[in-house]
Amino acid sequence: MFRRRSGIEIKSPDQLAVMRQAGLVVARALHAIEEAATPGTTTAELDAIAREVLRDHRATSSFLGYRAHGAVPYPGVICASVNEEVVHGIPGSRVLREGDLLSVDFGAIVDGWNGDAAVTILVGQVAPEAAELSRITEAALWAGLDQARVGAHLTDISHAVESTIVAAEQEAGREFGIVEDYGGHGIGSRMHMEPHILNYGAPGRGPVLRPGMALAIEPMVTLGNPAVMVQDDAWTVVTLDGSLASHWEHTVAVTEEGPWVLTVLEDPVR
Ligand code: MF3
Ligand code: CO
Repeated sequence: MFRRRSGIEIKSPDQLAVMRQAGLVVARALHAIEEAATPGTTTAELDAIAREVLRDHRATSSFLGYRAHGAVPYPGVICASVNEEVVHGIPGSRVLREGDLLSVDFGAIVDGWNGDAAVTILVGQVAPEAAELSRITEAALWAGLDQARVGAHLTDISHAVESTIVAAEQEAGREFGIVEDYGGHGIGSRMHMEPHILNYGAPGRGPVLRPGMALAIEPMVTLGNPAVMVQDDAWTVVTLDGSLASHWEHTVAVTEEGPWVLTVLEDPVR
């Protein structure tokens, strides 16, 4: 496949169609997990659901065995991050409780092409500010996705994400934290590719978006300070101040017809 000067992988329409298949696998697994994530469920059970969906679709995991920071290969097919855990929580024996704010991230590969998405799930009844945090993080994601258009600049996405959070702060009369240490990414023949996508910043900078590019946009927002640290398991990212965090993500393709969100359950009727 060929690359433009920007260094961003350009997919053919046929390749994007395969990425849509990978995205559908991701959407189906996350949907099943949303249904299953009730009080009393362990995060390992949610990981097992995702493994079953992979098997059913003859897909493989983007996450299992992934080495982001060197030594420790990732042991799950999902990330399950509870409350003050922001991203990369390792699924295990932890039992979900009423009121937990759970972010689940999942990636699948079909014929060598990746899809990547994350949702925040409200476990039972959650505090109003936790539900609000998830709602505004998802809204920021969709504002970013809407900028994935031919001719836009990369940081138009970043700016749209940040602006949505800033507007929500004004409305709520409180501050939220936009996590700066992690961000979105190009995606396609690998899960993490050029470019890195910040969730804040001025618009109109960075590469111009072209048809055939695919991006994973993923705001991470906290109810407190945006500072995070990695725990001793070498993966789990938590807020330094212990505040709740939400993570939402979709993979989107840039097409002449506009943004094509590859990780939704159903294609919108045009
Ligand atoms: N899906 C995450 C992201 O959006 C990456 C997960 S790291 C892994 O960038 F090790 F779990 F794969
Ligand atoms: Co991602």
